[in-house]
Amino acid sequence: MPLSQRTTLTQFLIEQRRRFPQASGDFNALILDIALACKAIAGSVAYGALGGVLGAQAGSINVQGEEQKKLDVISNELFIRACEWGGHLAGMASEEMDEPYAIPPHYPRGKYLLVFDPLDGSSNIDVNVSVGSIFSVLRAPQAVVDGERPLQAQDFLQPGERQVAAGYALYGPSTMLVLSVGTGVHGFTLDPQLGEFFLSHPDIRVPEKTQEFAINASNSRFWEPPVKRYVDECLAGKTGPRGKDFNMRWIASMVAEAHRIFMRGGVFLYPRDTKDPSKPGRLRLLYEANPIGYLMEQAGGRASTGREPMLQVQPTSLHQRIGLVFGSREEVERIEQYHREP
Ligand code: AHG
Ligand code: MN
Ligand code: MN
Ligand code: MN
Repeated sequence: MPLSQRTTLTQFLIEQRRRFPQASGDFNALILDIALACKAIAGSVAYGALGGVLGAQAGSINVQGEEQKKLDVISNELFIRACEWGGHLAGMASEEMDEPYAIPPHYPRGKYLLVFDPLDGSSNIDVNVSVGSIFSVLRAPQAVVDGERPLQAQDFLQPGERQVAAGYALYGPSTMLVLSVGTGVHGFTLDPQLGEFFLSHPDIRVPEKTQEFAINASNSRFWEPPVKRYVDECLAGKTGPRGKDFNMRWIASMVAEAHRIFMRGGVFLYPRDTKDPSKPGRLRLLYEANPIGYLMEQAGGRASTGREPMLQVQPTSLHQRIGLVFGSREEVERIEQYHREP
């Protein structure tokens, strides 16, 4: 596409905001800071072994009990450095930080909170498979914005429907930023020479019908009956109750799975299971399930715990895990139906 016909991320954001004459510009500036963090992460990821960034961060375990990769730590740092100074945020929270990050006193405080998974799919880094970053923007309580009290973990415990914006970056064959500011879902592709995101996928819609599902089948002995039933029916193919053949995928980078579903439909499940009673699901509510759920709903898809809409769940802790099902609306509704039936 010739440069003269392209729309930059900046132009897109300014045009979206013209619909809200009272907007201060803080929000756009925040999104551009996030985009800068994602470009910097894309750069680190692309250098791979040459950049000395592969492998584990020696002796470092995150709050989830996972071994941190070097790129988990680098990406977390890049998000903080790109987003803390601008005066748009009152605090941040991330998979890789046990506690929330308050904005240092020498920077102005702003009205938003940023929650992120700096690097999603980090088990794939060392095998050169697509990874990504996921982010969610919430409003900060007024008392924190005004400096009347310090930031607390509690301030982040807002249901997903209160998100102001959400998105992800995908570091794949090309780097993309997929974003919703509450006006549908729009995809941008990074021009690596110009270092600029350009609108490439306006108004993404999740196809309603699908014949593709994604689940880690090695957990099947731990699945609950509604999930087992759903997958069995997909596997039964043309002669089964669904009357059609299904295809299956598992990348182990949720962002990459979500992106595939935005592009061609499908359903993704990481359901609650009986593997470890202390973990009600694998993925994290605030920085994985909610932002992807928000994008799905904005694109006409659906996200659910299987039992209730994801965006209505009241979070109880910062790093809470949850069962997650998302994708084409009809499939997610079917899975919810199976959870309701005895
Ligand atoms: P993260 O790398 O941010 O910790 O997230 C990994 C998640 C998610 O991206 C993926 O869908 C899932 O873990 C993979 O789980 P399995 O290892 O069970 O395949
Ligand atoms: Mn992790
Ligand atoms: Mn993740
Ligand atoms: Mn991660």
